[in-house]
Amino acid sequence: MLVLLAGIFVVHIATVIMLFVCTIANVWVVSNVGNASVGLWNNCTNTLCNGTLVYAHEDALKTVQAFMILSIIFSAISLLVFVFQLFTMEKGNRFFLSGATMLVCWLCVLVGVSIYTSHYANGYTTYYRSEDHHGYSYILAWICFCFSFIIGVLYLVLRKK
Ligand SMILES: *[C@@H]1O[C@H](CO)[C@@H](O)[C@H](O)[C@H]1NC(C)=O
Repeated sequence: MLVLLAGIFVVHIATVIMLFVCTIANVWVVSNVGNASVGLWNNCTNTLCNGTLVYAHEDALKTVQAFMILSIIFSAISLLVFVFQLFTMEKGNRFFLSGATMLVCWLCVLVGVSIYTSHYANGYTTYYRSEDHHGYSYILAWICFCFSFIIGVLYLVLRKK
């Protein structure tokens, strides 16, 4: 049981870090030609990340930015709540509050990445050309989507021993 809790704790920290990294790294969509990638904030060429995103002012992108930031906040809150409950909660109780907060984080990632995919990262949009592929930020975001759900559910199920 203790090993399981420690494992979840480690995966939770990794998820917070991955959410942070994928949100700030501008590597959501990478071009196969040249050395260019775009993310939620900038359009990067070679090592310079100061190009203009053609869709920078679209509401869809701002919504994705907002939900990714919310997901970082909720995953961090959930981690703090878990640590707090670990020390203060009575034995036998479930980590309900941290689980519920983590599932809110999961929903934020779900909304953010879904909007990004439907607007900017699939073959049916004008922005995603045939010479593009998904970058590591995008992949990390989907990994966080899976991890946050698993962590949230495990918190709800596990009892403090
Ligand atoms: C990024 O910049 C390049 C070069 O200026 C441009 O061709 C491309 O359309 C831009 N991509 C996005 C998504 O803004």
